Amino acid sequence: MGRLFDFMLPEAKSPTADSTDALFHFINEVSLVLLIGITFALIYFAIKYRRRSEDDETPVITHNNTLEITWSVIPLLITFVIFGWGYSGWLNLKSVPDNAYEIQVSAYKWGWNAKYINGAQTLNEIHVPEGRPVKIVLQSADVLHAFFVPDYRVKHDVVPGRYTYVWFEANEVGESQVFCTEYCGTGHSDMLAKIIVHTEDDFETWLEKNGGGVSGTPVEQGKQLVQLQGCVTCHSEDGSKKIGPSFKGLWNKQENLTNGSTVIVDENYLRESILNPAAKIVEGYDNVMTPYEGRITDDEITNIIEYLKTLK
Ligand code: CUA
Repeated sequence: MGRLFDFMLPEAKSPTADSTDALFHFINEVSLVLLIGITFALIYFAIKYRRRSEDDETPVITHNNTLEITWSVIPLLITFVIFGWGYSGWLNLKSVPDNAYEIQVSAYKWGWNAKYINGAQTLNEIHVPEGRPVKIVLQSADVLHAFFVPDYRVKHDVVPGRYTYVWFEANEVGESQVFCTEYCGTGHSDMLAKIIVHTEDDFETWLEKNGGGVSGTPVEQGKQLVQLQGCVTCHSEDGSKKIGPSFKGLWNKQENLTNGSTVIVDENYLRESILNPAAKIVEGYDNVMTPYEGRITDDEITNIIEYLKTLK
């Protein structure tokens, strides 16, 4: 059903959105009624009690109990309604149904890495089944981010060093936009992801096809890893300049560093730059990369290096 402020909201695509929207409309409509009432009263009184002559004097008025109690109690009751309504909505958003499908999502500068129960992984895409509650468990690899999906009316801070979560139920097949809504540095506004909703059957097929994580030769695995670990968000594979140096032609190249020295790009330099990027910063770039220390295995680093060697 259409309501006055419907134009302000995107289409609701999760049943959890209903109580949020109802409260949003209630607050807006109450505010509108008050705004109109107060504005008209203001104009009416300004005209009615305007000064008509030089000796027009304002009588001394101290107070009016009835009036003061009325204008205190009515807003108080409205506040109680808003609080109770908001609290029950919040409880609903915090109570995840038992049959929820769980997906681990890790935020980092600047992307979203999703891991599924069978080892499948995706970057900046979160695949979910239709018509089933989905719990997104959130963690951050570096700084404060926030996970926001307007279509589902869910938003939560992603805090380093602790887990947080949101849940929703996608009620139609399609795509929904994910935003980062906590300013997290240079790439904040590019920190976007899509939620991709499949029918339950398609989702199972998709999971099976992508299960088990990366596979293939070391070079093939390295190619998948630079996607999944989000490296390619900041490092191009075709020589174009992004936030960090391009991977193309990187191997064996001599780089000028910000401290005035130079370095030849070899295994040890690459390994150090993945684990502790701040150690050597290439001239013309900022020290903004998140360290991968503790987030990547030695094997994975080796495979990534093998892949980078092929990008001549
Ligand atoms: Cu992540 Cu803003």
